[in-house]
Amino acid sequence: MAPFPSSLVCEANNNEGRTLIVGGNGFIGRFIVEASLASGRPTYMLVRQSNSTCPAKAKTIKVLQDKGAIILQGSMEDQKFMEKALKDHKIEVVISVVGGASILDQLNLVHAIKAVGNIKRFLPSEFGHDVDRNDPVEPGLTMYNEKRIVRRRIEEVGIPYTYICCNSITAWPYYDNIHPSEVLPPMDQFQIYGDGSVKAYFIDGTDIGKFTLKALDDKRTINKCVHFRPSSNLLNINELASLWEKKIKRTLPRVTITEDILLDAANENCIPQSIVAAFTHEIFIKGCQTNFSLDGPKDVEASTLYPDILFKTISESFDDFVIKINDQPIDDVVQIIDKPVKDTVNRLTMATCA
Ligand SMILES: NC(=O)c1ccc[n+]([C@@H]2O[C@H](COP(=O)([O-])OP(=O)(O)OC[C@H]3O[C@@H](n4cnc5c(N)ncnc54)[C@H](OP(=O)(O)O)[C@@H]3O)[C@@H](O)[C@H]2O)c1
Repeated sequence: MAPFPSSLVCEANNNEGRTLIVGGNGFIGRFIVEASLASGRPTYMLVRQSNSTCPAKAKTIKVLQDKGAIILQGSMEDQKFMEKALKDHKIEVVISVVGGASILDQLNLVHAIKAVGNIKRFLPSEFGHDVDRNDPVEPGLTMYNEKRIVRRRIEEVGIPYTYICCNSITAWPYYDNIHPSEVLPPMDQFQIYGDGSVKAYFIDGTDIGKFTLKALDDKRTINKCVHFRPSSNLLNINELASLWEKKIKRTLPRVTITEDILLDAANENCIPQSIVAAFTHEIFIKGCQTNFSLDGPKDVEASTLYPDILFKTISESFDDFVIKINDQPIDDVVQIIDKPVKDTVNRLTMATCA
């Protein structure tokens, strides 16, 4: 039996700020749904039927449903369904957090939003870099180009939008892992990209959610790129390694991953790992998060817009990883702390379905 029968879809009592999140059970999407629920907005999640056959996804959805998310079952690719869902549920704001393979499918969503006509704000799936500002190597460039196509269509049809450019999620930036905050930072050795001196912004997942929700109703962010550049969260990878060493109270060897190694990994065109390698090159060799100033007509910056709200520091986020280590069975901890662990062991990902 499907766990989300439509008969169970209840309606929010409150009409104000009804928000539909597409991809809300994904990696970044969960932070957005949690923040939306915490803000008290009526929060709808579009969920595909296939989730009912995956216990891990069904569990995530159930947790969010129990916290108040209203589940709509369907796919963004079905434009007529989307138009009806937007109208029937009086949706005012749409946030898409779909993954890299589905970026162009958002064009159906853009057309549905245009057809319905009264959506106050659309946030397409961005949640990374300003894709108009830099050109990564392939296959990263293909994803940038797809995000650019979606941007241009939104602008052509005249939907009010906000592009969230939150930079990197706080975690160890493994060059082959698309969801780095789901695994621990290294316990055996650090892989340092280039000379390790290029800085990047690391933003906790909860803050990606929190500041995205702040931007939703803010007139200052209409038709703008919101860049997340808190000065407290700017570190290079050598500094990131030293911070983790302090947390685990030991030093680890550092090996250099050269630019050529990253380019070779990107060139293998193994999806999605090669996309991550291309972005790692873009961030830690080319400096794409810091090599332009925010003086364009569309640029606004989150810590400047909301000076009274502090970003979680990288140190605080790393404390959460230490808690995760401490929560593991003692035998596992001894193994992690005392023995060199292979990447595959260290990078145990959360249960996912193929
Ligand atoms: N800043 C960073 O460090 C960072 C890190 C990772 C990702 N990102 C960015 O964040 C965005 C989201 O990526 P992610 O890795 O979080 O994605 P993800 O984990 O793959 O999740 C994607 C979600 O979109 C849903 N979806 C896909 N196609 C759909 C459709 N046609 N209709 C309805 N739902 C659909 C998926 O549903 P199913 O469960 O049914 O498949 C899933 O819930 C991307 O733009 C990515 O580039 C940023």
